[in-house]
Amino acid sequence: MAEDFLRDAIKDIKDYIPGKTPQKRGVIKLASNENPFGPSPKSLAAIEKAAKNLQVYPDQKSILLREALAKKFRVSFDQVIVGNGSDELMQLAAAAFLRPGEEVIIPEHTFSLYEFVARLFDGKPVFVPLKGLEQDLDAMLKAVTQKTKMVFLCSPHNPTGSIITRKAFHEFLQKLPKNVLVTIDEAYAEFAEDKTLPESLSYVLEGRNVMVLRTFSKFYGLAGLRCGYGFAPAELIKYMFRVKPPFNVNRLAQAGALAALEDTAFLKMTYKNNLEGKKYLYAELDKLGLSYKKTEANFILINIKYPADELFLKLMGAGVIIRPLTSFGLPQAIRVSIGTKEQNKKLMASLEKAIS
Ligand SMILES: Cc1ncc(COP(=O)(O)O)c(C=O)c1O
Repeated sequence: MAEDFLRDAIKDIKDYIPGKTPQKRGVIKLASNENPFGPSPKSLAAIEKAAKNLQVYPDQKSILLREALAKKFRVSFDQVIVGNGSDELMQLAAAAFLRPGEEVIIPEHTFSLYEFVARLFDGKPVFVPLKGLEQDLDAMLKAVTQKTKMVFLCSPHNPTGSIITRKAFHEFLQKLPKNVLVTIDEAYAEFAEDKTLPESLSYVLEGRNVMVLRTFSKFYGLAGLRCGYGFAPAELIKYMFRVKPPFNVNRLAQAGALAALEDTAFLKMTYKNNLEGKKYLYAELDKLGLSYKKTEANFILINIKYPADELFLKLMGAGVIIRPLTSFGLPQAIRVSIGTKEQNKKLMASLEKAIS
């Protein structure tokens, strides 16, 4: 079909590049920041039970799950929305609020979905360079114009693992025009050790134009189930509901996510393993003399000063899939997810061999 059949905005959308999936037994994947322990066991049991009713459409409003999230995060029910992954919630926000030609401020070298949703709805992505691998909030403020409609922030940031501090976020919001919608993507927040994370929900409660995004894909081990959630003032949530497909969150996802919230033992194990894995990897990377960024997430950015795509192939040959950051605009850096003890060991042994 001729390209001129397409909407103009679609011509500029690049294909999403996912982490590669293992095709052979014994290959480990440390490329998409998934939970190395698999899904939460409580979640699996709930999914099995829910599967007995698959002839029935799911609850269009995800009421039980939203009630549980509202209770856990101390917000009201009408300030919560659930989506087919948090990806979908970004899309719903843009569908509801972004007008053609309006600008969307995005940090450079970041998760590609922000640019995707901006382009999908004929918005104009405006990229702001990082400063020493940190999101540069001052520069982002300077990028605001009359046409700015949305800002995406990511904390902890994919792929650098660094957070925006509470103070920095507060000052940013003080200076940002109130009509700009700030989406703060906290997909990895549960892994953070730093307790100075922004109190992002307090701005939602105040009624600021702030949307906070979380997901069941990472910490809860449910990436394959597709379930994310978001918080925003009720007025914004109401319009996001208006543009959402009626049955976007399937019956298994609603049941599995609800049960995962209660799986305290699994969540504790996940947090502890990540902390220990992080310390181990730091020590091993130090031994190899590789420079890396300290992380608040479940992955580490490593500067390899060598073509990342080549290293990716070498490691793949050794049975370890990592993420070259070429598609993030960092062709000499890789991102590795923190795995189980055994996976981390295999990663470091293969990395040592590959760079020697
Ligand atoms: C920063 C960030 N936000 C959101 C997502 C996607 O989450 P979900 O699986 O809920 O769509 C990812 C997945 O890699 C991510 O890295």
